[in-house]
Amino acid sequence: VVQTSMSRSQVALLGLGLLLMLLLYVGLPGPPEQTSWLWGDPNVTILAGLTPGNSPIFYREVLPLHPARRVEVVLLHGKAFNSHTWEQLGTLQLLSQRGYRAVALDLPGFGNSAPSEEASTEAGRAELLQRVLQDLEVHNAVLVSPSLSGRYALPFLMRGHHQLRGFVPIAPASTQNYTQEQFWAVKTPTLILYGELDRILARESLRQLRHLPNHSVVKLRDAGHACYLHKPQDFHLVLLTFLDHLP
Ligand SMILES: *[C@@H]1O[C@H](CO)[C@@H](O)[C@H](O)[C@H]1NC(C)=O
Ligand SMILES: *[C@@H]1O[C@H](CO)[C@@H](O)[C@H](O)[C@H]1NC(C)=O
Ligand SMILES: *[C@@H]1O[C@H](CO)[C@@H](O)[C@H](O)[C@H]1NC(C)=O
Repeated sequence: VVQTSMSRSQVALLGLGLLLMLLLYVGLPGPPEQTSWLWGDPNVTILAGLTPGNSPIFYREVLPLHPARRVEVVLLHGKAFNSHTWEQLGTLQLLSQRGYRAVALDLPGFGNSAPSEEASTEAGRAELLQRVLQDLEVHNAVLVSPSLSGRYALPFLMRGHHQLRGFVPIAPASTQNYTQEQFWAVKTPTLILYGELDRILARESLRQLRHLPNHSVVKLRDAGHACYLHKPQDFHLVLLTFLDHLP
C-alpha cells in the first residue's frame, strides 16, 4: 500500500515537472530572428562621445555593418527619455543592420548632455542642431523627432529643410508656432507617426503637420504618446519602409 502511494506521488511529481517544463517552454521568447529584429545584433558596436564645439552634446552612434545607404538617421527624444532609449529599443542596432548610419543625441539638459544657454531660444536650438550635424559629419539626415524634441526639430526644419533627406515627426511639440504657409514651403518627404491612444500632442501636431506637401501618416494601434516604445516592431517596420523608399 505504501509503495503504491509513493509511486502515485512520484507520478504526480513527474506530471508537475512536465507541466512546468511545458510552461517554461511556452514562456520562452520567440524564435531568434524575432529577438534580433527587436533587439538588434549584439555584435553591433555602439560608439558614444561628446561632439566638439562650445556646447558639447552627447551622442550614441552605430556605423552600418554593411554600408548600403547614403542616409544618416538622427534620433532625438522626448522629455522622459534620452539617446539610450534608442539603444534599449534596438533601433540603433537595427538601422545599422539595414545599412544606415544612425546617431542618437542627448538634448541639452538630458542624459549626458549639459544644459545649454543656447537652447533657451528658438534660433539657438536650430543652430545647435545644425552645428551637431556638422560636427558629426551628417550630410543626408533623416530627422526622427518625438514629442519635446519638436522644440529643436521644427525650427531646424523651417530653416534647414534643404539639408534633410527626410523627416519623421512623432507627435512633436511646438508645431503650433508655425503657420500653414511655413509648413507648405517644406518639401522634405515626411512620415507623420503617432499612437492611436495619444491624447497629448497627436491631434494638435497632426493638424499642423498635414500642411507639409509630401507626407504620409501612420497611426500605430494600441499605442500611446511614446508609440515607438509601446509598439517597437510596428514602429521599426514603418520607419524602415519609409527609409528604404526615400529617393
Ligand atoms: C557575431 O559575429 C561573429 C563573427 O562575424 C559571428 O560568427 C557571430 O555569429 C555573431 N554573433 C551574433 C549573435 O550574431
Ligand atoms: C512658441 O511661441 C510662443 C509664443 O510666441 C513662444 O513663447 C514660445 O517660446 C515658442 N515656442 C517655441 C518652441 O518656439
Ligand atoms: C515624396 O516622398 C516620397 C518618399 O516618402 C518620395 O519617394 C517622393 O519622391 C517625394 N515626392 C516629391 C514630389 O518630392
